[in-house]
Amino acid sequence: MVSATGPTRRVTAPAIAARKGSAEPVVMVTAYDAPTARILDEAGVDVILVGDSVANVVLGYADTLQVTIDDMAHHVGAVARAKPGALVVGDLPWLSYHVSTSDTVRNAARLVRAGAGAVKLEGGAKRLDAVRAILDAEIPVMGHLGLTPQSVHALGGFRVQGKELDDARRIVDDAAALAEAGCFAIVLECVPDAVARLVTDTVDVPTIGIGAGRHCDGQVLVFHDLLGFDDAKAPKFVRRYAAIGRDARDAVARFADDVRGGRFPSSEETYHAADGVSDMIGVYGRVATDRSSEAEAGRQA
Ligand code: KIV
Repeated sequence: MVSATGPTRRVTAPAIAARKGSAEPVVMVTAYDAPTARILDEAGVDVILVGDSVANVVLGYADTLQVTIDDMAHHVGAVARAKPGALVVGDLPWLSYHVSTSDTVRNAARLVRAGAGAVKLEGGAKRLDAVRAILDAEIPVMGHLGLTPQSVHALGGFRVQGKELDDARRIVDDAAALAEAGCFAIVLECVPDAVARLVTDTVDVPTIGIGAGRHCDGQVLVFHDLLGFDDAKAPKFVRRYAAIGRDARDAVARFADDVRGGRFPSSEETYHAADGVSDMIGVYGRVATDRSSEAEAGRQA
């Protein structure tokens, strides 16, 4: 697509799939709203993931199991309204692709109608029917293996996956099955780098790592983690590129201080009436105050 100011970027799922083995790793970051999507797009990320991490990152839940397809469609819509050139991937939440094939396809379609160019779902061999049904509806699918937060109870907590040989083998087999089924990319979350490397060497679609080391075809981080919204200890795979939480707190504290000290707003930050009108408004104000005082005195008499 070409605009008056030059070529407009439009990243698609096939374009991401074609980046397999390319010298330029795929860059994916989460966003849940329009201003964040604008920032990510201007920064040139390839993929904006509207992750179900919105649950714990933004909505205050303890895990991702609490968000619904309505929640996800709401946030995908907000991101899509920023009209990013990056590919928008909508996360299918827990139970939106586990119950029936028709529900699965309908839920994936909701995210596409909200503005996603692809959907992501968690799991391997067990989810192949869901993957195939969504692909059959012409919707590109991104896989997600390793630590799959929607399985937190089944996994016994949020912990690194694939440390033992059997687990590692299962992750590699699942990745091969997802790629074979037609997923255009696969997220690998919290797996040892040796496992991520083997998966990356095995499958012919890009792997996008988070806590999976450097041997992936791309990397993803949660926007709020990489900006340092929270100054509590982050997982070891998070690199903070800013301290937005601290900066925001300082800014709001300075605002509060200015308000309490009578320094905000200044005359420049205030609308003024035309010359002479302010005085007249003052006279009307005094007249009105006098009338209401008289009326009050009359009521009490
Ligand atoms: O929901 C999310 O943010 C994710 C990423 C961690 C990959 O799935």
